[in-house]
Amino acid sequence: MIKLLSQLTHVEIYATDLEESVRYYTDIVGLRVLERDADKVYLRAWGDYYPYSVVLVPGEASGMVSMAWRTTSPEALDEAVRRIEQSGYTGEWREPGARLGKSYVFTGPYGHTMQLFWEVEKYKAPAELASQYPDRPEKRSSHGLAPRHLDHVTIATRDVVGFCEYYRDVLGFRLMAYAGLPDTPVTFFGVLTTNEKSHDLGVLLDGSDVPGRIHHYAFWVDTHEDLKRSADLLLENGTRIEYGPGMHGIGEQDFLYFREASGLRIEVNSGGYRNYVPDWEPYRWSGAEGCDDFYRNVTLPQSMLEAFPPAPQPTATEQGLVPGTEDELIVRGALHTPDAVGSQH
Ligand SMILES: [Fe+2]
Repeated sequence: MIKLLSQLTHVEIYATDLEESVRYYTDIVGLRVLERDADKVYLRAWGDYYPYSVVLVPGEASGMVSMAWRTTSPEALDEAVRRIEQSGYTGEWREPGARLGKSYVFTGPYGHTMQLFWEVEKYKAPAELASQYPDRPEKRSSHGLAPRHLDHVTIATRDVVGFCEYYRDVLGFRLMAYAGLPDTPVTFFGVLTTNEKSHDLGVLLDGSDVPGRIHHYAFWVDTHEDLKRSADLLLENGTRIEYGPGMHGIGEQDFLYFREASGLRIEVNSGGYRNYVPDWEPYRWSGAEGCDDFYRNVTLPQSMLEAFPPAPQPTATEQGLVPGTEDELIVRGALHTPDAVGSQH
């Protein structure tokens, strides 16, 4: 299969109080409002190559409207649509707008909506924000956390393996790792990528029947020191750190989790491996190997079992199932056995 997708470009999320979210994302996170229209606010990080990476839209509860991915070519967009429709799902073409060319929006088998496009307006910084690096989209910011760019989305679903295999088979994501309970078919986490990173799409087991939930999305900072600075700034400005800083075993990335103005979880990421292996075989980690918290010396807060929109049932965590949640999580979907695992315990 030709490579279909090049990268995650933006997430569209609900804001329960739009103006408070705009304030939080600009003052605390350190994004900049690119523009706003009647009902959406478009924000960007200084290192985003495309015009924006976060779109806020008013909503009753926190959650994700859609995640957008650029294809590798116009032909790849057509091929992606052909493959989606061949798989039994039908989306709709959206007319050009919001600095994008025509795009195809579809909701996949587990209720998550993706927008795919090829054409996008090239971002050009205004003169006062232009970088001295000709290749840098905008000069480095030190305002707020000042993340460089959007990094990944982690969704929640009843069937981690089914989700991973669908997006591998239909859109060509590389399947990089699973995590599961040893000696059982219960898989609680999986990671997919369109590029050299360990993941730009994470997949976490969901105990709820609410389709299309998101667990968190993440920004990138260049260094571990930037991540520690982020933790410092959050605490100094009234945002509680939910979990971290720590280091993921899967992907070898430093992490830090907190909640934005609508309660949605954001992660700050740095570090991690680069992997270009085209026929990579995903290893199936156990929680005991430190797939989430590689140092294995911190108790995960119960709040990490929450996904969005909120539901009474928990998710798994990237480290495993929290005792007491097994009955809600070990269901038919969770017992879907991977067919693509190269290394098993
Ligand atoms: Fe993450």
